[in-house]
Amino acid sequence: MRFSDVNTEIETLGPASFPSPMLEKVAEGSLASFVQEDHRIIVDVSAERQAQRVSEGTELASFELAGPREQLFFNPSEVKAGLVTCGGLCPGLNDIIRAVVLELHYRYGVRDIFGFRHGLQGLIPTYGHDIMSLDPETVAPILDMGGSILGSSRGPQDIDEIVARLDRLGINILFMIGGDGTLIAATKIAEVVSQRELPISIIGIPKTIDNDIHLLARSFGFDTAVGIATQSIEAAHNEARGYENGIGLIKLMGRESGFIAATATLARQDVNFVLIPEIDFDFDGPSGFLEKLEKRLAHRKHAVIVVAEGAGQKFFDEQSDKKDPSGNPVLHDIGALLKEKISEHLSKKNIDFALKYIDPSYIIRSLPANPNDRVFCGFLGRDAVHAGMAGKTKLFVGHWNNHFVHVPISASAGKRKKVKTNGKLWRTVLAATGQGSLISKG
Ligand code: F6P
Repeated sequence: MRFSDVNTEIETLGPASFPSPMLEKVAEGSLASFVQEDHRIIVDVSAERQAQRVSEGTELASFELAGPREQLFFNPSEVKAGLVTCGGLCPGLNDIIRAVVLELHYRYGVRDIFGFRHGLQGLIPTYGHDIMSLDPETVAPILDMGGSILGSSRGPQDIDEIVARLDRLGINILFMIGGDGTLIAATKIAEVVSQRELPISIIGIPKTIDNDIHLLARSFGFDTAVGIATQSIEAAHNEARGYENGIGLIKLMGRESGFIAATATLARQDVNFVLIPEIDFDFDGPSGFLEKLEKRLAHRKHAVIVVAEGAGQKFFDEQSDKKDPSGNPVLHDIGALLKEKISEHLSKKNIDFALKYIDPSYIIRSLPANPNDRVFCGFLGRDAVHAGMAGKTKLFVGHWNNHFVHVPISASAGKRKKVKTNGKLWRTVLAATGQGSLISKG
C-alpha cells in the first residue's frame, strides 16, 4: 500500500463550541500553543513522490496534528472519562495512565476519571471487577511500577454490553490503551456508539513492545524492551567468549515482526546471526545457518545468535492454527529447536562447544519504562486527552515524521508493520553481523 493513499480523515462527535479552559490560562499570561484544524503533517515525506503527486494535481495525504484545541466538543466541567489497558503488558502503561489523569485533572478540571480493571473485562459487569477512581494522588506513585495499575486481559468482550455500560456510567471519553486487537475493538465500540448516537469519544493509545503497529513510527515500550534485550545480548556475548567455541543464544519477543531483535542487535553489534520472522532461513546446506555457524566458530571461536520468537516457524511439522484469546498465533519454540539443531550438528562433527541459552522472555516488557519511553508516554497521554476533549473519535494518537498526530484507527488496525527486507534497518543488521543470506543454494 502506498502511504499517499492512506485515509487520514478524523471523525468528530459534533461541533466544538466550548472554549478550552486553557484560554483563561493564556489570558493570565501562561503559554499555550493551540493546534488549528488545518495544522497537518505530510504522511509521505519523499520529495520525488510529493513532486509526482503535485504534478498529477493530487492532494498529499496528511495527518491531523495532535495537541490542544481552542474549542472543545465537551464542556470540561461535565466530562467523565474512563481508561482501560488491554493485552500483554508493556513498559510505560502506568506512565500513560498518569499522563492522561494529570492532563484531565489539572488542565481541563475533570474530576470523574474511572479506571476499568483487567482490560475489556472491566467493562462487563458480570466479571465483578471493581472500578478504580483515578486522581493525581492515586497516580503519583505509579511511575516506578512496571505493568499496569489497572491490570489487563486478552480477548474480545460483548461490544453492546460495553457500550451499554459506558452509557449507564455516563462516560464521555474512553481511552483504550492496547495493541492491534484493542484498536479493532475500539473501532467496533465506536461504531455502536455512533449507531446509538451517544456522545462518547473513543481514543486509542497504541501499545506493543513489538513496534509492529501500521502507520506508527514507534510504539511506547519498544525502546525500553530493546534496552533490556541489549543486556541479554551483552551477557550472552560474555558467556560465549568465556569458552572455546562458546555460543550465546538469545530468544527475544517479537511475534510477527523482528524489530526488537534487529534493533537490539544494532545497539550492541556483537551479534553474528539474527533470525527474524520476516526473513527466511535454512538450517542445512552450504549457505544454511548451521554451516555458517560452524565456519564462524572455526574462525573466531565464539558466536552470538539472536532469534525472534516468531522466526523459523516453518520448521515445525505440525503447523497449528492455534490462536491466543486476542487472535494472535501461538508460536512453536524456535529457541529450543535452535539449541537442539546446533547441538546435533556440532556433535555429529565432533566439535566441542559450550552453548548458553538465554530467554529473557517477559522481563523485557514487565519492567518500568526507561526515561526516553517515559517522556514519549507523557506526550501520547496528554495528546490523547486533547483529542478526546475536542470530540474527536475512532483515532489513535501516533508518532509520524517526528510529530504527534491523529491516525484514524481504520487506516491501521488489522495491518502489521514488518521489518522491510530491503530496508535500511535490515541492511544494516546484515552489515553488522555479516551473516548474509541463510538460504541454502544447494
Ligand atoms: O505483543 C507483545 C508481546 O510481548 C509479544 O512480543 C509476545 O509474543 C506476546 O506479547 C506474548 O504475550 P502473552 O504471553 O502475554 O500472551
